[in-house]
Amino acid sequence: MPKPRSIVILTGAGISRESGLDTFRDPGGVWDKVRLEDVATPDAFRRDPNRVHAFYNARRAQLNAVEPNAAHRALGELDRAWTGDLLLVTQNIDDLHERGGSQRLLHMHGTLRHVRCLGCAAVSPWLEAADTETPCPVCGQATLRPDVVWFGEVPLHMDAIMDALSVCDLFVSIGTSGTVYPAAGFVELAGRQADTLELNLEPSGGGAFDRSLSGPATELVPRFVADLLS
Ligand code: APR
Repeated sequence: MPKPRSIVILTGAGISRESGLDTFRDPGGVWDKVRLEDVATPDAFRRDPNRVHAFYNARRAQLNAVEPNAAHRALGELDRAWTGDLLLVTQNIDDLHERGGSQRLLHMHGTLRHVRCLGCAAVSPWLEAADTETPCPVCGQATLRPDVVWFGEVPLHMDAIMDALSVCDLFVSIGTSGTVYPAAGFVELAGRQADTLELNLEPSGGGAFDRSLSGPATELVPRFVADLLS
């Protein structure tokens, strides 16, 4: 394969599975344990904000117990070494890509490490638990929400992501079931001009990719990065 000039990589929960974080839709995954309608919609937050806060507080606390794995670290190495265009788009709200060394990174579904104030709109770094009594560090109002994108909300950074998808010549999808839009549609958009490659425990189905490799991310991603950098 000729070396690409411009790469877009999309990741999902599968890349963090071997760090110890559950995926959503695998057996025993997050949506087996809790109904997404109860914790991951604007309506759920209106109905019971402290239940929603508790769900994200628990997930934020988990971040202290996990480390980036070989797949995150390989993408960090690619970011350091790759002189061409590169954009890593993650659907994950964990911080394992940044801790693995990735800088050219956009969190399209937000991040656990920030809260957003519904009063003054400030987005603030956040490492602790939050609830309906917690004051915003900027304006003092107790109107914080997790800075994550819920079902029914518009993902973040979409202009920059669409621009990168429209010019890349390699699109790689890692550890995502490809069931949640708009991310699920990226392969079709990029595929108009780019080679498309899937690295996943099992092919996500639909046959949308030019190539699909099956296996754990900690094996496939370091091999993919080593090939690109060789
Ligand atoms: N290595 C590679 N892939 C893996 C691994 C692994 N070790 N373990 C699981 N997978 C794959 C699964 O086969 C599955 O295809 O990762 C995928 C995870 O899919 P989902 O659980 O649906 O997660 P994701 O695609 O990230 O979900 C998208 O849904 O609920 C929302 O907002 C949430 O961002 C999330 C979005």
